[in-house]
Amino acid sequence: MILVTGATGTIGRHLLRQLVEAGTPVRAFVRNSGQREASGCEFAEGDFDRPDSVAAALAGVDRLFLNTSASPSLVRQQTDAIDAARVAGVRQIVKVSVQDASPTAGLARGWHGQIEEHLKRSGVPWAVLKPNSYMQNFLADAPDIADGGQFFGAYRDGAIAYVDCRDIAGCAAALLTRPIGDEQTFVLTGPEGLTHEDIAARFTVALDRRIRYVDLTPEDMAGRLINRYGLPAAVAMEASETMVYLASGAWSAPTTAIADLTGREPRAFQGFLADHLDAFRPGPG
Ligand SMILES: NC(=O)c1ccc[n+]([C@@H]2O[C@H](COP(=O)([O-])OP(=O)(O)OC[C@H]3O[C@@H](n4cnc5c(N)ncnc54)[C@H](OP(=O)(O)O)[C@@H]3O)[C@@H](O)[C@H]2O)c1
Repeated sequence: MILVTGATGTIGRHLLRQLVEAGTPVRAFVRNSGQREASGCEFAEGDFDRPDSVAAALAGVDRLFLNTSASPSLVRQQTDAIDAARVAGVRQIVKVSVQDASPTAGLARGWHGQIEEHLKRSGVPWAVLKPNSYMQNFLADAPDIADGGQFFGAYRDGAIAYVDCRDIAGCAAALLTRPIGDEQTFVLTGPEGLTHEDIAARFTVALDRRIRYVDLTPEDMAGRLINRYGLPAAVAMEASETMVYLASGAWSAPTTAIADLTGREPRAFQGFLADHLDAFRPGPG
């Protein structure tokens, strides 16, 4: 039995579907029963902040897909879950981390770096997926693109090899259904590094209207994250500084990991756009 956490999320919902379609016994860890979208799988109601519910969900589980939202609670939530998995006799953990995770980095890269260290010390066999930034992040920009024909960042001309979450799910499914092999880390990217000007050009073609990328200073980007998305000031500043880090091109190089794991080439940005085009079109009225 595979336990999928983050089961309602951008990766988890595709992973559940892929595992169910393949006839694999799977249990979805969800925060409330209203989230039981997928059929054909078991559900365990619980919350990473309630360790008893995690332990109960792990009963009879031999493989764990470990993923949850990036937040200051992430390290505690996931290290506790890793400990619970060890106690429950789980034979493999497949964890979603992030590219360039390091215990000394800030925000999500730092949190994931600490968790990876804990996982590697746990004694439970592991595989770590280190995805590049998600194409699906652009869905958060959909109102700006639909209504204003523009989207914002502080990436300058740094290219990023954005990855489609459906491909991350495919890699997780491959790892969770094959014999447990060597412990390995996989850097998952899309097929090409794209600047945000490149991405604006792709939106322009796909939507047949001019879409602009607006590059802001880190301070102005942080202000936007605070005012538009309600992020706390420190988090917003670190998030925009991460964009400046990516402006160096640190995440621009594609890897072959998705093709190696799944046997299929990773989805290109145009494919993501074609599948989500309506989200970026102005609504009626
Ligand atoms: N976004 C990126 O570009 C990117 C790139 C690399 C790595 N990552 C990493 O990917 C991970 C997922 O991020 P995401 O933003 O894409 O989120 P997501 O996977 O779309 O959603 C998070 C999932 O975690 C669940 N969850 C959150 N808090 C929980 C809790 N206390 N107990 C149980 N389940 C809980 C959510 O359930 P509900 O439906 O109940 O909320 C949801 O299913 C993060 O660790 C992030 O660092 C993100």
